[in-house]
Amino acid sequence: MPPKLYSTLASWWHLLSDPQDYAEEVACYWRLLCERASRPVGTMLELGCGGGNNAFHFKQHCQLTLTDLSPDMLTQSRRINPECEHFEGDMRTLQLSRRFDAVFVHDAVMYMVNEGDLRQAIKTAVTHCEPGGIVMFVADCTRETWAPSTSHGGHDGDGRALRYLEWTWDPDPADTEFVAEMVYMLREGDQPVRIERDRHRFGLFSSETWIRLLAESGVRASKECCRFVDGEEVTVFVGVLDSYRLANSRLAVTRRSPSTSTSPSRSD
Ligand SMILES: C[S@@+](CC[C@H](N)C(=O)[O-])C[C@H]1O[C@@H](n2cnc3c(N)ncnc32)[C@H](O)[C@@H]1O
Repeated sequence: MPPKLYSTLASWWHLLSDPQDYAEEVACYWRLLCERASRPVGTMLELGCGGGNNAFHFKQHCQLTLTDLSPDMLTQSRRINPECEHFEGDMRTLQLSRRFDAVFVHDAVMYMVNEGDLRQAIKTAVTHCEPGGIVMFVADCTRETWAPSTSHGGHDGDGRALRYLEWTWDPDPADTEFVAEMVYMLREGDQPVRIERDRHRFGLFSSETWIRLLAESGVRASKECCRFVDGEEVTVFVGVLDSYRLANSRLAVTRRSPSTSTSPSRSD
């Protein structure tokens, strides 16, 4: 069962999470992408774009292709990003048969609740990335940074308003999951406030696991930390697709037969 927030309540998404609030965050990710990329980032694929709040800011820099598991969330993203192309798909299995200069995965990656899922999502990112292109995963937390928390927020809209309470806890510290219990208070016109509850299951992996899984897929990733003015902190795993291995294999071929072979071949 998908969380209500991404199905029956999806039309409330932008009152829970306002696109305007993502400007600082996206500026930070874009700076990091440009710093680390080995080629200009003209095209970008986002896996798990949700309501398109990141895309709303990224689209001023590059051409975006947006994908998500939830058709209802894609509807929300299309509303604010009509100029971007959108596809429905699971980040563990998506196959667009196209490659991009960059593949970006934001908080949607938190829905990968075991190593197998995370490995698959990384593989999807890599198979959609140009050789020498860049992949970026933003994790709300890692095994090292996670702590139980309580937060609240919400916004007023046109005839509608939402407030929420989020409470994260870990029912079983021995596995790779924690949960966020959510309560939404929904107000429409002068109707009595409606209350809905939801449970989100999130994955929790150590930085070592992230770096290892990325390396297995041919990405030399580094771990960065982004801190924002509101005190929020996220862990970013960013890496260039291994043109390094490509370069090494080219070198090996050249060394073996300098006069007959100049074309690179992957060794993996
Ligand atoms: C918190 S929302 C993303 C919000 C997004 N960062 C934004 O800018 O609006 C999480 C999204 O992850 C999506 N999601 C969850 N599991 C997924 C999967 N396996 N593949 C693709 N998307 C997934 C949900 O449908 C939801 O839209």
